[in-house]
Amino acid sequence: MKILGIESSCDETGIAVYDSESAELWQRLYSQIEKHREYGGVVPELASRDHVVKAAPMLKEILAEIGSVDDIDAIAYTRGPGLIGALMVGANLARGLAWALDKPVLGVHHMEGHLLAPMLAQDKPEVPFVALLVSGGHTLLVDVASLGNYKILGETLDDAVGEAFDKTAKLMGLPYPGGPQLAKLADSINHSRFEFPRPMINRPGLEFSFSGLKTAALNIVKKHEPLDDEVRIEIAYAFQHAVVDTLRIKCKRALEATGYQNLVIAGGVGANQRLRLVLAGMAEEQNAKLYFPALEYCTDNGAMIAYAGALRLTQGQVDGDVFDVLPRWSLEELDPI
Ligand code: KG4
Ligand code: ZN
Repeated sequence: MKILGIESSCDETGIAVYDSESAELWQRLYSQIEKHREYGGVVPELASRDHVVKAAPMLKEILAEIGSVDDIDAIAYTRGPGLIGALMVGANLARGLAWALDKPVLGVHHMEGHLLAPMLAQDKPEVPFVALLVSGGHTLLVDVASLGNYKILGETLDDAVGEAFDKTAKLMGLPYPGGPQLAKLADSINHSRFEFPRPMINRPGLEFSFSGLKTAALNIVKKHEPLDDEVRIEIAYAFQHAVVDTLRIKCKRALEATGYQNLVIAGGVGANQRLRLVLAGMAEEQNAKLYFPALEYCTDNGAMIAYAGALRLTQGQVDGDVFDVLPRWSLEELDPI
């Protein structure tokens, strides 16, 4: 079965076709980052407009590659969570196409797409596993007892990890989205005169809070203005250290609490090299196996939506008479696969 996947929940237009028999994948990805940079963050209205401009031509390119639109057997799109206008663009394209072609269509949960992205690799994680989902909008620890059966063990009470990276980077004068650039600065040294707090590690539980780190960064920035490169790099180092350390402690706790021996990291911040390194060390100590998606499948993409859609569509799961998108949608509401 060839499944078309359409992702448009935020500032990336992702279109992919996944063949559920051969595991072949065709894809296009377009990032709107340049459009939003001058505003220092994603402008929802601009995002929707740009998805409208880009999605159909990208789809045409892929269809030309695979043959024709008749080669598509089913269609998956991101139904939520995300920006409502942006979601509507992908949903309308997917449902319109499904209606015209008389093919099955299914709205996919964006975070399930992230969570299943490591399964696009040869070495697929096996259930049960703990998933750490770390993106610009979410920070979740999830108990994955079986596919589609998700229990949220902990989430952030304020900023998401990616958001904390981006906001701190902005304070340091780095252009949006500063997360990857902050990480690059942090990786360029191995010491810092600064020490950031590790939020919420002294109380039990698996909740996170990252807004205090941004405030800690702001206080240092104010004290050292105008920032020189040395201070900037040392802030980046101390910030990344605190975030990664906090995530390590909570992932370890989640493995201990569930008794699982597989840990899956996904979402944009999953691209962070220090996070990968530190969690690999922790997993080894815990005799657990660690899985990451390939770097290209960490951030938003169409392949993860085509893949998650494929798992469900091949089981006969399709949309009912839905005409909505779900800007807010909990993973816990999903049906088992
Ligand atoms: O999953 P994603 O593409 O979009 C959302 O669904 O939010 O994640 C984007 C987030 C941004 O906040 C970005 O700064 C962060 O992931 N990010 C990183 C790195 N690469 C992307 N944060 C830290 N280190 C990185 N290497
Ligand atoms: Zn995402």
